[in-house]
Amino acid sequence: MAKPRVREFLSTLNLCSPLDLDPEDRDLLFEAHEAASKAYAPYSRFHVGGAVRLANGVVVRGSNQENMAYPSGMCGERVAVFAAGAQHPDVAMTAVAIASPSPNALAHAFMPCGGCRQVLVEAERRQGIPLRIILQVRDENVMISESALNLMPFAFDAKGLGVALED
Ligand code: THU
Repeated sequence: MAKPRVREFLSTLNLCSPLDLDPEDRDLLFEAHEAASKAYAPYSRFHVGGAVRLANGVVVRGSNQENMAYPSGMCGERVAVFAAGAQHPDVAMTAVAIASPSPNALAHAFMPCGGCRQVLVEAERRQGIPLRIILQVRDENVMISESALNLMPFAFDAKGLGVALED
């Protein structure tokens, strides 16, 4: 049998103490924690906040919004990214902080779900500059990804459909 061809994708997460964060990242995480306090999550009781920093310095917040019809709910980071896209369609997003105060969450296992990664990757591709992702549970150590694609190797995109994005 012919040797299979391999496509590799190196994915890197930076881990750091909250004390070592840049002031901008620390502020954005603070905003994400504030946003988490506004979550509507009566079903899971897992509160998540997202804060998007735009290239012009504006910060847009979101939090998870659940619904009794469970699939109708939405994750916190996706609410934030969609709100940023809806309110500031022409401004790039430079970073998204995602935070949860949940007492049950494991700090190193707190990651955006696949659907949110798909949305983050598309926001990044649309704007053409990297979108940093900053994750924190409670006041524990922070994980940073320098791009959205780094969290979603071999992501699906419009090229897979053979269509060009117009916007
Ligand atoms: N959730 C988020 O908001 N973001 C994540 O990164 C993971 C999960 C929400 C969805 C749902 O409201 C609750 O957390 C439990 O899954």
